[in-house]
Amino acid sequence: MGSRARVYEEVWRDSGAGTSCKRVTRGNALRQGSAWRGSRGLVALLLFAVSVCGAAVWLYVTFLDSDVTETLVRQGELVSPRPRFFPVQCSEDYDNHKRYPGCTPQRCGRAVTDSVVTREEAQVLRRLAERGLSLAGSDGGASILDLHSGALSMGKQFVNIYRYFVDQIGDVFTQEDFQLYRNVRERIQAAIAEAFGLDRTLLYLTKPTFFSRINSTLAKTQHDEYWHPHIDKVTYGSFDYTSLLYLSDYGSDFTGGRFIFMDQNANRTVEPRAGRVSFFSSGTENLHRVEKVAWGTRYAITVSFTCDPAHAISDPAMP
Ligand SMILES: *[C@@H]1O[C@H](CO)[C@@H](O)[C@H](O)[C@H]1NC(C)=O
Ligand SMILES: *[C@@H]1O[C@H](CO)[C@@H](O)[C@H](O)[C@H]1NC(C)=O
Repeated sequence: MGSRARVYEEVWRDSGAGTSCKRVTRGNALRQGSAWRGSRGLVALLLFAVSVCGAAVWLYVTFLDSDVTETLVRQGELVSPRPRFFPVQCSEDYDNHKRYPGCTPQRCGRAVTDSVVTREEAQVLRRLAERGLSLAGSDGGASILDLHSGALSMGKQFVNIYRYFVDQIGDVFTQEDFQLYRNVRERIQAAIAEAFGLDRTLLYLTKPTFFSRINSTLAKTQHDEYWHPHIDKVTYGSFDYTSLLYLSDYGSDFTGGRFIFMDQNANRTVEPRAGRVSFFSSGTENLHRVEKVAWGTRYAITVSFTCDPAHAISDPAMP
């Protein structure tokens, strides 16, 4: 009996599943060992222990970030056809900038929709991100690819993909890819305008607007540290509305990596889902961060909008 308990203990040590699992299994083995002599009993016990410990590890990984107090939208939900809108009171950030009637936020909040971009489109964009980012990438943390400026993470810095990879660029992007990007941008813009009651022609794409890839390898430089709380309008004064298009699924492509709105009284998350668009007014009312990715790879696109025509940029195009 003692040796059987030792076998279990080694199994759990090898699986890396923590001491509490080890003790539970050992206790069970001691209590039930004499009744389960046959190999069927052993297999059943093993299976039971494996599922208990598997569930424990899963829960541990899933709730790694236990500061989350409320989930606004889960990965498995489908928010369609109307976006789900969560109003918040506007901060005073917008008073420090010129106001643009018909565009500057008067009502603030956050919204989530799964009906602006299809999962198929998200998959095409994800492959585009994979191809582009496979040319280089940061040493850890987040890697970004900005199709507009061409900035691509490379080691501890950035290179211009259109200059540095002139010969490869034709294998990475096609004209259709840029068309899809533009098309998706237009639809997101229309969704933002409708949700916030704006004139969509008064809203402009601004920079930076970029693809991001995040895995569990920790950042080696500060600019690759994606998990710090931040306010978009403080970082980029030109931002008025920020949107995120998710290109992979929380829970199956990666864990961790949830988007978290940090409110006074709660940390509220949106779970990424391929094709899901989350958008919000960019001021202090939407202080946010991204939870560290625990495993897998998370792809997303950030598409940002301004009300100030001086900060407008044109859609990315084939060089
Ligand atoms: C994460 O991505 C970096 C490149 O950005 C790569 O060097 C590293 O091996 C990846 N880590 C994992 C765990 O896949
Ligand atoms: C929200 O999360 C932050 C850091 O992750 C934590 O310091 C804070 O206490 C949390 N807020 C609430 C209301 O739980």
